[in-house]
Amino acid sequence: MKVLLIGSGGREHALAWKLAQSPLLTEFYATPGNPGIAEHAALVSLNVEDHEAVAAFCREKAIDFVVVGPEAPLVAGLADRLRAYGLKVFGPSAAAAQLEGSKGFTKDICARYKIPTGAYQRFNNAPKAKAYIREQGAPIVVKADGLAAGKGVTVAMTVEEALAAVDDCFEGAFGAAGAEVVVEAYLDGEEASFFCLCDGRNALPLATVQDHKRVGEGDTGVNTGGMGAYSPAPVMTAEMIERTMKEIIEPTIRGMAESGYPFSGVFFAGLMITAKGPELIEYNVRFGDPECQVLMMRLKSDLLPLLLAAAEGTLDKVMAEWSDDPALTVVMASKGYPGSYEKNTPIVSLPEAGDGAKVFHAGTSLKGGELVATGGRVLNVTATGRTVGEAQNRAYALVDKVEWENGFCRRDIGWRAIEREKA
Ligand code: AMP
Ligand code: GLY
Repeated sequence: MKVLLIGSGGREHALAWKLAQSPLLTEFYATPGNPGIAEHAALVSLNVEDHEAVAAFCREKAIDFVVVGPEAPLVAGLADRLRAYGLKVFGPSAAAAQLEGSKGFTKDICARYKIPTGAYQRFNNAPKAKAYIREQGAPIVVKADGLAAGKGVTVAMTVEEALAAVDDCFEGAFGAAGAEVVVEAYLDGEEASFFCLCDGRNALPLATVQDHKRVGEGDTGVNTGGMGAYSPAPVMTAEMIERTMKEIIEPTIRGMAESGYPFSGVFFAGLMITAKGPELIEYNVRFGDPECQVLMMRLKSDLLPLLLAAAEGTLDKVMAEWSDDPALTVVMASKGYPGSYEKNTPIVSLPEAGDGAKVFHAGTSLKGGELVATGGRVLNVTATGRTVGEAQNRAYALVDKVEWENGFCRRDIGWRAIEREKA
């Protein structure tokens, strides 16, 4: 099978590493890729926004299957265009990708199908949004409706902060994404990420993950795209997984199909486990980054037939087998992230990872033969262990061998799970 992978981050490096192990794979291309992905796939330079150019490349190389990593091309309709050419694609249509592309769309599905989530209202002007916030009081959450690269959410502890967030949105801080605003109730609890493949009708739950969104140790400071993750998430007990499937995932699949937008691809449900049980914070329509990295480390099954089954509508015929060993990934980021940071700083050397460990490239590039950091989040140092504590020790031992002056990481990834292990 000839496969094209779209994307250039740590998520795509992990997918590439895993797909490359498939005995079904005959030719493997990635665009735009990165130096880590280049170990597994031939990199091609395509403008992913030019759907015709991607389709033409697929025709030229007789590609059988396209795996789309990030959300932006999905929301822009790349999967629709490629499917129109008869290609098999992993990833939802633009209509179904609204689950990530519009927070209001998702909230409306939740309301119609009684999916547990924070109470909310949608607004297209500041005065009404502000009146609602004053009426509800704080804490309260203000979200730009559209895609804002993880930056459009303000968890406001005071009414003033929430009002300021409304002004930011409508004054264009998030561009078109902020033309509509969702104001929702604050949910209190422990967060977990739940992943589930879907083929429009059938669901195949994957493993659970916990992510560290804040930049600082002890989960303090500003939100980022994710500073580290581990799998499984201890808070996701068998009972919570069952409830998540019944109360959240299954009604979503039904709702999307009944609305005329059957969902195929991966649901990434951001959950808050509250005193009442699992509640939906948001959906993403692609694998999490860096959540994907720990999922791939734990997946024992061949990934290719699983993704293919999601695209072909045969998920009821496949199974995913997982290692019992937890996996943990530490994100090494450029100093200054998630604010501004210096680009093209040299990564002098990366350690040999060995069995059950892997350094995924998230934001690197080769310049004149030298490896440099080009992104905010740059490396995902990943390891498995018999316990989360052991996986953490192994991951940080590797972190200490990375020679990169301008890099930093949190030193406490996995702390909640490790505290539980000690208790
Ligand atoms: P999102 O981009 O929607 O995942 O939001 C980013 C982060 O904001 C989430 O991971 C949560 O930590 C937090 N958040 C979002 N919505 C809520 C909510 N309703 N209650 C509490 N925290 C929230
Ligand atoms: N790590 C969170 C995300 O991929 O959105």
